[in-house]
Amino acid sequence: MEYLIDTANMTMIEKCVDLLPITGITSNPSIIKKEGRIDFFEHFRKIRGIIGADKTLHVQILAEKCEGILEEAHTILEKIDRAVYIKIPVTPEGLKAIRLLKKEGAKITATAVYSKTQGFMAMEAGADFIAPYFNRMENLDIDAAAAVEFFASMIDRYGYSTKILAASFKNIHQVNEAFACGAQAATVNPDILLAAFAVPSIKKALDDFAADWESVFGKDHICD
Ligand code: E4P
Repeated sequence: MEYLIDTANMTMIEKCVDLLPITGITSNPSIIKKEGRIDFFEHFRKIRGIIGADKTLHVQILAEKCEGILEEAHTILEKIDRAVYIKIPVTPEGLKAIRLLKKEGAKITATAVYSKTQGFMAMEAGADFIAPYFNRMENLDIDAAAAVEFFASMIDRYGYSTKILAASFKNIHQVNEAFACGAQAATVNPDILLAAFAVPSIKKALDDFAADWESVFGKDHICD
């Protein structure tokens, strides 16, 4: 199981990398918009500096035609680094670009997956990750859990090396459901991940432990 965080916010990335067992960072143009008019390449070079080489960095292209996708992908690889996973929406033009970039040895995250066909085609094209949009599918009354399960069974049956990087979540239940259905990875808004720990019962348990300790040992600590 892998948790990635879906943000381009450097403060949040620093905090999550420090505290949580995350394996990478994803973003898209709407996520980048929240950071204002940043220097795109410099911003992601800094993010790489924070996360180091052992975590994955997934950066999305904007072009819709294959030629433009290739140009943007090459620029990202050149100006950020060669280890970046290029995020490409699964369209016919995107699939062509994925196949060509895979031949060059690039790493690909196939994104904006709303259907089984998009996912299957991206696997066939050689994508390293496919990113089914869990919440957005549910908003359209598409059974996202069934789709993830289907992708997982096809990966098993045919031996694809593609991993499922479930994305687009509005709550932690959806994240857990995606994992239960066979997603190897999920990229989650860090606020949703951190909220999973901001539960009154957890706080109460800690307060009770502290009070019980103090009732016997007073202000003395374990290390005193
Ligand atoms: C991640 O790679 C996706 O771009 C993202 O999870 C989409 O999330 P949203 O549906 O909350 O915009």
